[in-house]
Amino acid sequence: MLYPVLFLLTFCGFFCLESRAADAQQWRSRSIYQIVTDRFALPDVSDGTAYNIPCNTSALQHCGGTWRGIIDHLDYIQGMGFDAIWISPPFANVEGSTPYGEAYHGYWPQDLTSLNPHFGTVNDLKNLSASLHSRGMYLMLDVVVNHMVSPRPFNITAIQLALGNTTQVVKNTTEMYPFTDLSDFHELCWINDYTNQTEVEQCWLGNEEMPWADVDTENPAVMGTLNDWISDVISDFSVDGLRLSTVKYVAQDFWQTFTSQAEVFTIGEVFSDDANYTSPYTQVMNAVLDYPTWFELVPAFLSPRGNFSALVDAVQQSQELYTSGSFMTGSFLENHDQPRFASLTNDTALLANAMVWPFIHDGIPILYYGQEQGLSGGESPSNQEALWQTRYDIEDPHYIMVTSLNQARKAAIDSEKYFLTTPMQFLDANEGNTLAVSKPPVLALFTNAGSSSATSVRWNVTHPIFKSREQLVDVLTCRNYLSGENGGVSIQSDEGMPKVLMPISSIQGSPQLCPQSVDISSAKRAAGLAVSWLSITPYFLVAVAVALA
Ligand SMILES: *[C@@H]1O[C@H](CO)[C@@H](O)[C@H](O)[C@H]1NC(C)=O
Ligand SMILES: *[C@@H]1O[C@H](CO)[C@@H](O)[C@H](O)[C@H]1NC(C)=O
Ligand SMILES: *[C@@H]1O[C@H](CO)[C@@H](O)[C@H](O)[C@H]1NC(C)=O
Ligand SMILES: *[C@@H]1O[C@H](CO)[C@@H](O)[C@H](O)[C@H]1NC(C)=O
Ligand SMILES: *[C@@H]1O[C@H](CO)[C@@H](O)[C@H](O)[C@H]1NC(C)=O
Ligand SMILES: *[C@@H]1O[C@H](CO)[C@@H](O)[C@H](O)[C@H]1NC(C)=O
Ligand SMILES: *[C@@H]1O[C@H](CO)[C@@H](O)[C@H](O)[C@H]1NC(C)=O
Ligand SMILES: *[C@@H]1O[C@H](CO)[C@@H](O)[C@H](O)[C@H]1NC(C)=O
Ligand SMILES: *[C@@H]1O[C@H](CO)[C@@H](O)[C@H](O)[C@H]1NC(C)=O
Ligand SMILES: *[C@@H]1O[C@H](CO)[C@@H](O)[C@H](O)[C@H]1NC(C)=O
Repeated sequence: MLYPVLFLLTFCGFFCLESRAADAQQWRSRSIYQIVTDRFALPDVSDGTAYNIPCNTSALQHCGGTWRGIIDHLDYIQGMGFDAIWISPPFANVEGSTPYGEAYHGYWPQDLTSLNPHFGTVNDLKNLSASLHSRGMYLMLDVVVNHMVSPRPFNITAIQLALGNTTQVVKNTTEMYPFTDLSDFHELCWINDYTNQTEVEQCWLGNEEMPWADVDTENPAVMGTLNDWISDVISDFSVDGLRLSTVKYVAQDFWQTFTSQAEVFTIGEVFSDDANYTSPYTQVMNAVLDYPTWFELVPAFLSPRGNFSALVDAVQQSQELYTSGSFMTGSFLENHDQPRFASLTNDTALLANAMVWPFIHDGIPILYYGQEQGLSGGESPSNQEALWQTRYDIEDPHYIMVTSLNQARKAAIDSEKYFLTTPMQFLDANEGNTLAVSKPPVLALFTNAGSSSATSVRWNVTHPIFKSREQLVDVLTCRNYLSGENGGVSIQSDEGMPKVLMPISSIQGSPQLCPQSVDISSAKRAAGLAVSWLSITPYFLVAVAVALA
């Protein structure tokens, strides 16, 4: 009797997992496009004139983007090869003007029990979820539970009164939902000492002008409410994953139960350059956004003086310290909180090198909307541009490059079953200003020499990465190369541009990627053109047809 029961359990285990929302293993191969809903797409745009609707980022006001707008532009996102989106927090925020502008970004929740009416209705968000799922894409919601913002007044005397540490309590309910009780919040104190973790967790962010009421996430009643809330949100909107905001301001014990209640994949924002500090959080959630590496990534690629050793050290630390190595960490170059890379340099070769990085990293690549259009806003709020003003140009070279990078990663996953479980490795490339990263079947060659470097850069990788005399393709240019006798490569950079090399044999199953890179030698060996014609793509046929016409 035991065996059939076990069998049924296993059977159910497998299928129940399939039907449930997505877990970490299912996210592992994904590629995420990060959206600030208010800035990504306007709803019901039927003609191009709406693309001229202005959005003044400095004005700190809503610009009109909605979930319907996202639904209408899923082709644009999927066309780049993304199979998941992360949207900015969807819950109702404090309305109207504050000393810091309007809550267009969604990070000032006032009512967790309602959606933000600026972004659409319950049906719109359900519809976005359903539309994503019908395309095989995932939905990740951004959630903020550390704090809430009261609709009024932004006045510390009033807040202190509201929190009841004086005898003159005027009002005993907050206007923040579902936490209307004063005891649902920590007593007021400001975070002054960021090295005191108790203070970081229990005191308040914000300031006297604009206090962020710190939810008492250690209070069992509050925990229970939030745990039930997130379960409902996930099932109501068929959510596949959560991006957890302001993680370090909440005790780890809270996250432990919250994430196990959520069941879906969880990835946290722990803002720190120190993997020793961020790594314990990988025990209470699936992964963290890889901030420690990001802190080294940007300066490493910003100039020829950038320090690749420091970047390598950061990666190796996360590989060592995180619960799942650096697998499933969020690997990013830009986000809504940081200046865009293109605001820091005008050198297109440096930008190209930095853009490749998240896609050849162990983690899950995350691209911040607008990078694919070459947007160059600096510090927040300048980095939250309205994407409609770019007209969603799918011929923009950045868009094309991102598409190739996503396709290359998928091709690597499809052709090498260990790609997603093999840690990235750093190889000696024999020259300053170069970095060689091996993650079979990919060899990525980076340089921070820049586009105008006087001396030409050559990567000389002697390590036997490929087969002897194997045909390779640089998926960024679709140019072909041959590995050396010993399987290494010696390749010169074109004006500081990076290379992403893959054996041609490993991209044969990915018809959209460099369609003209047919492995001539194997086609010849297969005796005759007919075979090679069958193995190449419709795109190539189109190209040939165009060439003939
Ligand atoms: C944008 O908003 C800022 C801040 O309100 C204002 O100073 C500036 O004049 C505005 N720019 C335009 C072009 O309206
Ligand atoms: C989503 O909205 C579209 C257009 O309004 C509608 O045709 C479709 O049925 C909706 N889908 C779901 C799952 O709600
Ligand atoms: C702040 O709030 C308190 C209590 O409601 C009120 O007495 C005081 O006038 C307010 N101060 C300002 C500057 O609005
Ligand atoms: C209220 O709490 C704050 C911060 O803990 C403290 O500075 C202030 O003195 C308290 N006010 C009263 C009247 O107790
Ligand atoms: C405020 O409400 C809480 C619970 O609802 C109660 O315990 C507390 O005594 C009230 N405080 C005042 C000053 O009324
Ligand atoms: C840390 O902060 C807490 C809360 O403000 C305080 O009680 C404690 O004394 C602080 N610890 C140190 C070592 O300063
Ligand atoms: C993390 O801790 C290890 C071991 O204590 C130490 O060697 C390393 O330098 C620390 N890393 C950082 C970034 O502080
Ligand atoms: C580069 O980073 C490494 C490792 O973090 C460090 O030891 C070295 O001093 C740095 N080099 C420069 C020039 O800053
Ligand atoms: C990039 O070029 C623009 C236009 O020439 C200039 O205004 C800007 O300062 C440059 N940015 C950097 C980071 O050099
Ligand atoms: C590459 O490195 C090898 C071993 O150090 C050396 O023999 C060879 O000359 C180098 N090739 C080039 C083109 O620099």
